[in-house]
Amino acid sequence: MSLAKDWTQASIQTIIDGLKHKPGAMLPILHAIQDEIGYIPETAVAQIAESLLQTRAEVHGVISFYHHFRTTPPGKHLIQICRAEACQAMGCRSLEQHAKESLGIDYHQTTANREFSLEAVYCLGNCATAPSIRIDDDIHGRVSLDRFDALVSRHRQNMKEVS
Ligand code: FES
Repeated sequence: MSLAKDWTQASIQTIIDGLKHKPGAMLPILHAIQDEIGYIPETAVAQIAESLLQTRAEVHGVISFYHHFRTTPPGKHLIQICRAEACQAMGCRSLEQHAKESLGIDYHQTTANREFSLEAVYCLGNCATAPSIRIDDDIHGRVSLDRFDALVSRHRQNMKEVS
């Protein structure tokens, strides 16, 4: 299942029109678009700029300031590694290094086959079983390097079974 959803300029404009009259509308619009379709397409930047009477550069500036926003479609699975205090104390730094090396990507990137995107998060509410990660909607605790590999492998396997 891809995290990116189908969209049209009209569907993006509907989102913009529903929020553009709010004070400080840019961030709510960007969040709503990414929540709805998985990322911020370039087309949306032009539509936001026009609707809010701002320049495209201003919209790009906001997008690039917040690491949360993606400008390319996410992979089929989103892996989030917790970097907050409890997980740091339990070794998340080596886990994130391992994840980057084994997937061959850095944070905010997607594997070339578009299977996995990698992001950092700051507390998944699962501190008691740190280090914790989330893959799509599922949170996993006590994630060793081997367990990480097994979880990734399981998601790869699921993809082969449904394709
Ligand atoms: S600090 Fe990682 S889940 Fe809370």
